[in-house]
Amino acid sequence: MFSSTVSSDGVIVLRPLRADDVTSMYDAVCESLAELKPWMSWAHDNYQKRETRDWITLAQARWNEGSYYGFAITEAQTQTFLGGLSLSQIHPLYHFCNLGYWIRSTQRGHGYAGRATRLAARFAFERLKLIRVEIVVAVENEASQKVADKIGAHREGILHNRMVVGARVHDAVMYSLLPSDFGLAVRL
Ligand SMILES: CC(C)(COP(=O)(O)OP(=O)(O)OC[C@H]1O[C@@H](n2cnc3c(N)ncnc32)[C@H](O)[C@@H]1OP(=O)(O)O)[C@@H](O)C(=O)NCCC(=O)NCCS
Repeated sequence: MFSSTVSSDGVIVLRPLRADDVTSMYDAVCESLAELKPWMSWAHDNYQKRETRDWITLAQARWNEGSYYGFAITEAQTQTFLGGLSLSQIHPLYHFCNLGYWIRSTQRGHGYAGRATRLAARFAFERLKLIRVEIVVAVENEASQKVADKIGAHREGILHNRMVVGARVHDAVMYSLLPSDFGLAVRL
């Protein structure tokens, strides 16, 4: 089932998280904690390898039930683990979802998040038949807004108190990607 969900643009590969990603994903998280903590509630100073293992196990179960899609982003030539991407909050009635991403600190600045986002959005439209992918970015998160802007996501406005990370509440920019951005028709 998972093998048919691998996609690549020749530079990166986007594929479902696997049990054998635990060590490389844990290492990637650990090296990136300072940059993940402001934006990801799951990232904290005492982050443990079992949290990665539990997360991958949960992600695989939720993939099978169609409620959450957790991907690894890897480098196409070397298979280096670059980061993670998820499609979550899949709305059963209105057919949209939330897309989130992170790239390990040593691999930032190469445009990998944007590449992965484009592959994942195409997966959402073609495979999941969604009609809208949302990217919700804290107003203070300039790097992530650059990712969304650079791939041509629609900047739709600012939503107040839309994001909570730990004890901090953020206003957030709502971005969207639509099937028409990929030359695709809406298919319900
Ligand atoms: C946001 C993030 C995913 C961007 O991934 P990326 O693959 O590095 O994206 P890009 O290469 O397109 O770079 C985006 C911007 O990040 C900034 N950036 C690049 N390298 C950087 C570095 N080493 N340190 C800080 N910022 C950097 C640049 O301003 C860049 O914009 P530019 O291309 O106009 O110069 C990544 O920085 C990250 O994982 N951040 C922490 C988690 C997070 O914020 N996730 C998004 C939640 S909505």
